Amino acid sequence: MKLLIFGKYGQLSEELQRAVPASWDVIALSSSECDVTDHKAVTQQIEFVRPDAVINCAAYTAVDRAEEERSKADAVNWLAVENMARVAARNDVTLIHISTDYVFDGTKHKPYNENDSTAPINYYGASKLRGEKAFRESGCRGVIIRVQWLYSPYGKNFMRTMLRIAEQQAEVRVVADQYGAPTAADDLAAMIVKILPEVVADRKLRGEIFHFASAGRATWSDFAEEIFRVAECGCRVIPITTAEYPTAAKRPANSLFDCSKICHRFGIQLPDWREAVKRNIKKL
Ligand SMILES: NC(=O)c1ccc[n+]([C@@H]2O[C@H](COP(=O)([O-])OP(=O)(O)OC[C@H]3O[C@@H](n4cnc5c(N)ncnc54)[C@H](OP(=O)(O)O)[C@@H]3O)[C@@H](O)[C@H]2O)c1
Repeated sequence: MKLLIFGKYGQLSEELQRAVPASWDVIALSSSECDVTDHKAVTQQIEFVRPDAVINCAAYTAVDRAEEERSKADAVNWLAVENMARVAARNDVTLIHISTDYVFDGTKHKPYNENDSTAPINYYGASKLRGEKAFRESGCRGVIIRVQWLYSPYGKNFMRTMLRIAEQQAEVRVVADQYGAPTAADDLAAMIVKILPEVVADRKLRGEIFHFASAGRATWSDFAEEIFRVAECGCRVIPITTAEYPTAAKRPANSLFDCSKICHRFGIQLPDWREAVKRNIKKL
């Protein structure tokens, strides 16, 4: 299997590069080696490398900043994906693209499935949704995997932020009325490696969407409490409402996914979110 990964140093990309079998040939390109907004460079890379699959780990993920930097968010999350998918389609290459729970408005009272209507409430979500649509319209082979509440021992994420705060403060106020499932990047990477041969082999999969998240549910304050419990930090979590923690971008109240489609289609077992927290804190 020959893989071309765009975005080399992100949370998912780092874990993917660790998770692939040694026998696979992997080329991962950082933003300085190949900026995905440079359509010509991306085209050249895909046509030069001729991979079995491209995995797009590049994304504009600064959710609050995206409200101001709309054209930057669009360039990476939408227009770069549109180009990548068109080039992949032309060259009969499989594309694995990652999207987000933020395509939903979070008002549903049950977990979201792949057929639920999208209605992003922030610009990041809107730009990611345009990327999904561009992929589907290209007719390109491959899948879109929506994920949520991603964290890892690397990069910028909630777990690392909480551990840093715990070193400096005795207590922290954390939102307790948004629901989701903390999902470790290593679990996401392991799942992608598992399904990849089947996705590459199945010529009928063209822009099909799958939801993936850990099993279980939590609020951000539950997640913080679990991090502090496992890491044996003395920091106390004070639960607050979303209204008490204003941010530039609105967040959906319900991010929970129904992941039965991916489980049935590929024989996946969802990882337990608390087990993943334990493992990832050990890795630090
Ligand atoms: N993090 C979450 O909670 C979350 C939730 C739902 C969905 N997702 C999705 O999951 C995927 C992986 O997220 P992640 O957390 O691994 O992201 P991340 O850690 O923020 O990494 C994003 C990567 O994209 C690269 N990148 C940004 N602009 C680029 C450009 N113009 N050209 C090439 N590379 C560029 C960055 O490289 P540089 O650092 O060099 O710029 C970085 O390596 C993304 O599609 C994201 O939208 C994430």
